[in-house]
Amino acid sequence: MIDWANLPFGYLKTKSNTRCLYSEGKWGKMEVTESENINMHMAATCLHYGQECFEGLKAYRGKDGKIRVFRWEENSKRLNRSAARVGMPEVPAELFKEMLFTLVKENADFVPPYGTGASLYIRPLMIGMSPRLGISASTEVLLILFCSPVGPYYKGGFKPIKVIVERGSDRAAPLGTGTVKVGGNYAAALNMSIKSHEMGYGAALYLDPKEKKYIDECGPANFFAIKGDKYITPKSTSILPSITNMSLQALAEKKGLTVEKRQIPLTELAECDEAAECGTAAVISPISAVYDPDENKTYTFGDQVHPGKNCVDLYNTLVGIQYGDIADPFGWISFVE
Ligand code: PLP
Ligand code: COI
Repeated sequence: MIDWANLPFGYLKTKSNTRCLYSEGKWGKMEVTESENINMHMAATCLHYGQECFEGLKAYRGKDGKIRVFRWEENSKRLNRSAARVGMPEVPAELFKEMLFTLVKENADFVPPYGTGASLYIRPLMIGMSPRLGISASTEVLLILFCSPVGPYYKGGFKPIKVIVERGSDRAAPLGTGTVKVGGNYAAALNMSIKSHEMGYGAALYLDPKEKKYIDECGPANFFAIKGDKYITPKSTSILPSITNMSLQALAEKKGLTVEKRQIPLTELAECDEAAECGTAAVISPISAVYDPDENKTYTFGDQVHPGKNCVDLYNTLVGIQYGDIADPFGWISFVE
């Protein structure tokens, strides 16, 4: 029996996954498999040259029992941008959709019940499979979509976390791969993630890699702050364009906030009322404090215990649309039938 209301954000075996192999210049037929393993050559390019990219999206069960997927077309487009950056082929949106909807239908029993706060996390994964020693792109590429029921990314759920500024390493270069979702970015940030957890923080806050002056991203998510009646979020050539952030900007505008997408100096946090990170896994994770160890300075937000009122409102609206409690005026929801 799965304890739906107490699920962590972790991998849980489901019934099956969907796969498709690209070979000789074209995609083959989608397969459904119950295997959790991949048989591959030890010299496959994904293993030593990091030729891989991935995605993350969620399916939600509504009060009506129906399963909803949030903005999958955006994940499909971003997957293709990532694939192009690391020399892999385009996945037609129709193929992505077929693999996604088949996966969710196959694993419908693993879409958490309404009211548990949990959802089905879907992880599309694309890897270079050809054996190579010289650096060149694989001609065989495997696309897998697997899923796992998940709870909140941060244990406390919608509760403020503390984050720490990290200047010792960069997650991505100014014109590197920060704008796409490739494994190398996450490997490059693991040292900072480990260190921030060891020091008792929820995540590391990354600054722009060129000047170390402006806020880039936060943990596995984008950053935003509320300053008066403004929703401000970083503009940078080294961050991932977040679909959650894009959605929150639309919701913020709808509720009368002015959206500013621009460089945000770290020091501007002193003038902000609320701060948060946002992403598919993180949803909105409010930030209570940002600690800058190099300046020995802490920026705090609100009473440091409760999320700010704009964060609460944006969270309720976003999650309300995702679970179908609130009408979706944007066309963000697709039903899996
Ligand atoms: N930034 C990074 C580094 C991420 O890993 C993610 C997660 O996907 C995001 C931002 C948020 O993007 P999205 O809202 O599309 O999930
Ligand atoms: C997501 O939010 O979907 C992510 O990919 C974050 C993940 C690395 C846990």
